[in-house]
Amino acid sequence: MIKISPSLLAADFSILESEIKRVEEGGADWLHLDVMDGAFVPNISFGPCVISSIRKKSGLFFDVHLMINDPIRYIDDYKRAGADLLTVHYEACQDVEAALKAIKGCGIKAGLAIKPGTPVTVIEKYLNLCDLALIMTVEPGFGGQKLIPETVEKLRQVSELCRAYGIKAEIEADGGINRSNVGILRENGMTVAVAGSSVFGAPDAAEAIRSMRS
Ligand code: DX5
Ligand code: ZN
Repeated sequence: MIKISPSLLAADFSILESEIKRVEEGGADWLHLDVMDGAFVPNISFGPCVISSIRKKSGLFFDVHLMINDPIRYIDDYKRAGADLLTVHYEACQDVEAALKAIKGCGIKAGLAIKPGTPVTVIEKYLNLCDLALIMTVEPGFGGQKLIPETVEKLRQVSELCRAYGIKAEIEADGGINRSNVGILRENGMTVAVAGSSVFGAPDAAEAIRSMRS
């Protein structure tokens, strides 16, 4: 069964605690936390202070997606804030291997993300260091966009590479996912679906999560 990781970016930030409770009680597997620096992506969201505050309010697995340049500088901060998994972007790292090893070195899970225009082939040599590969299905930076159909094939490619190398990494898709396209993503190898607007934007988060899983 696929995991659902609701993206907090689509929550009402004035009532974060009850928003998190809403998806936690609604059956979310993970909580996706989008960190944006206004440089790697043209938007700014939140950082370690917010994550460490909400860490005290939730037992969910914190799936932290770093959309920041040179992320190796901040790995310790996010680990201390309570991340369970830290995903860095291939395009944002000066040394991808060093970043992944630094994440694993602090005892948490490591993920590697690629933007829609980046081919899967560039991350092939790093997959053995990854607990998760993240395929962006929209351009990173904003929630509420439409999924780019050409990215679906990349899920299949990365899942085939993992199979070929015997790597048990999760394959996460992120951006524009809803109940009508989740099936095709799963068929192509996605094991974790990030969903912002389609879960936090729904009046009944539990029903939204259930409908995406089934
Ligand atoms: C985009 C973020 C996504 C996004 C998902 O840069 O990485 O996690 O917020 O939100 P929806 O599901 O609304 O596309
Ligand atoms: Zn994300």
